[in-house]
Amino acid sequence: MFFIDRLYNMGEIKFWEANTMPLVTTTEMFKKAYAGGYAIGAFNVNNMEIIQGIVEAATEEQAPLILQVSSGARKYANTTYLTKMVEAAVETSGLPICLHLDHGDSFALCKDCVDSGFTSVMIDASAHPFAENISITKQVVEYAHDHGVVVEAELGKLAGIEDAVNVSAKDAAFTDPDQVQEFVEKTGVDSLAIAIGTSHGAYKFKGQPQLRFDILEEVGRRLPGFPIVLHGASSVPQELVAKVNQYGGSMPGAQGVPEDMLRKAASMAVCKINIDSDLRLAVTGAIREHFALNPSHFDPRQYLGPARDAVREVVKHKIVDVLGCDHKA
Ligand code: G3H
Ligand code: 13P
Ligand code: ZN
Repeated sequence: MFFIDRLYNMGEIKFWEANTMPLVTTTEMFKKAYAGGYAIGAFNVNNMEIIQGIVEAATEEQAPLILQVSSGARKYANTTYLTKMVEAAVETSGLPICLHLDHGDSFALCKDCVDSGFTSVMIDASAHPFAENISITKQVVEYAHDHGVVVEAELGKLAGIEDAVNVSAKDAAFTDPDQVQEFVEKTGVDSLAIAIGTSHGAYKFKGQPQLRFDILEEVGRRLPGFPIVLHGASSVPQELVAKVNQYGGSMPGAQGVPEDMLRKAASMAVCKINIDSDLRLAVTGAIREHFALNPSHFDPRQYLGPARDAVREVVKHKIVDVLGCDHKA
């Protein structure tokens, strides 16, 4: 008999029910990542094939994993479906997996995710003035911590073109290192996303890619041992862009964060690296190629299978060659 409604906390670990494996928070993951100079991959999930591709890669590489759900993903796939698939991933893989809300924009949304079993939430009040960002974040932290859930917040503004993240390049602002200590002390937040020049989407730089590593270094100095998060951190692999373009797509000028910069960030205070656009590129390239080469196919398994394989391959590459979190599960 299943007691699916029963949910209780035991320290680090949140149990859904007595007879399944637990989802974990990021606390232990980040502690080890910080000490080890590597980062955990936080991958956005929107459907079953994406979840399976990511989890297959992490299982092969024995990597800890953060699966994150945006409010757009909740609307698209239904949060219950996504949550249940992530539960299935935990059960079948045996990996430490954290289920995280990406870019929560209100206390109500964060509360809903805490109540429905997420082990981590992001409150992104970075569009608000500093004092308001503090008070909204603090409210989320108090509720989440009471329920054994950890909280990520954001200081500074990343440019972006995603559904829930819509900041134009002119409104983007680097994180001010002078604010980070006060923010963390007053909110009690568990990790902090900072803006050092990355942005959401597949078009991150017009010219030479540049990141403000001086800001990251100063933040690390002001907050020793504290986990920093890098959003907008897809590397937009050029072979994936080329495949999309080869088979009828049009993504001229798509450019991501160079992988050596991500490795450098991971060796510093960055413990969580967010990746969504690279998964979108992998899926789109595989499906475009499949349709171009197999015009008669109409069974979704015929093209979603290769899309899942493409996600697995790009995630394996990230885990081993960029994040350095292989064999850290
Ligand atoms: O940060 C944004 C993520 O890529 C999620 O995008 O809001 O379109 O799901 P989305
Ligand atoms: P990318 O668009 O670079 O993949 O960033 C994703 C992200 O930051 C999700 O929060
Ligand atoms: Zn983001």
